[in-house]
Amino acid sequence: RTVYVNGDYLPEEEAKISVFDRGFLFADAVYEVTSVLSGKLVDFAAHMKRLERSLSELKMTRPASEADLLAIHRELVARNGIDEGLVYMQVGRGAADRDFLFPPEDTKPSLVLFTQAMGLRDKPAGRTGIKVASVPDLRWGRRDIKTVQLLYPSIAKTEAKAKGADDAWLVEDGMVTEGTSNNAYILTEDGALVTRALSHAILHGITRAAVLRMAKEDGLRIEERSFTLDEAKRAKEAFITSASAFVLPVVEIDGLTLGDGTPGPVARRLREIYLAEAE
Ligand code: PDD
Repeated sequence: RTVYVNGDYLPEEEAKISVFDRGFLFADAVYEVTSVLSGKLVDFAAHMKRLERSLSELKMTRPASEADLLAIHRELVARNGIDEGLVYMQVGRGAADRDFLFPPEDTKPSLVLFTQAMGLRDKPAGRTGIKVASVPDLRWGRRDIKTVQLLYPSIAKTEAKAKGADDAWLVEDGMVTEGTSNNAYILTEDGALVTRALSHAILHGITRAAVLRMAKEDGLRIEERSFTLDEAKRAKEAFITSASAFVLPVVEIDGLTLGDGTPGPVARRLREIYLAEAE
């Protein structure tokens, strides 16, 4: 597999990053994950906009123009022959002697990209749905910035797996924030689609924005508000969204089956609409 590191396309075995890279020492880096369907990047411009925001919130230097970043994405997709999968891009503050203080502004940002070939469109979970288990949300207070501080989400997903679920739903003050790497939704008894409003508490998902627009166009009533874990357990349907999951139905929460335990019609329809439009 060819990866991209600070200006070079290299075989992954030859790629190197400094041990003083602040992404490595301080998780001082942000990232984006863009999906590839039929060899094409999905919603690239929106991912770039969010990257721009993450960088500016952290006063980080942009490593390359949007056009250059697009060219690198396309080059890696072509070199690795990715028809379906993901492109991961990480931008860090760069390498500097270890110090809690930010290094001088002229420190060269680091830029790393790699691809992951994987089936996304037809993965079995799209048909069967997934099970989630609730885990306390112990992440930091700026989850709207897409940083690589992913230790807690990683712990949470591992705990959820140990409980027999596929992923965790994170809960703070009794309210569901989001999944470990996806946004969370429920469909209420009276047919409203509910997902948490944007704030510092959750990542502003690119798929979330697209799916909410499609749901609106499809005539669904949308309520952007917090919901409790109890409300979720009583919901008619639930699902998650992300660049790698698209729309994935949730059929079980903390061992409690939603509806008849199969993906609900709304989640299935939104998945179809999303895939049809992304293709
Ligand atoms: N995760 N919430 C969190 C905490 C996330 O990490 C992600 C994305 C999302 C969904 O955002 P989007 O629709 O823009 O992918 C929500 C990526 C896919 C990851 O970490 O692999």
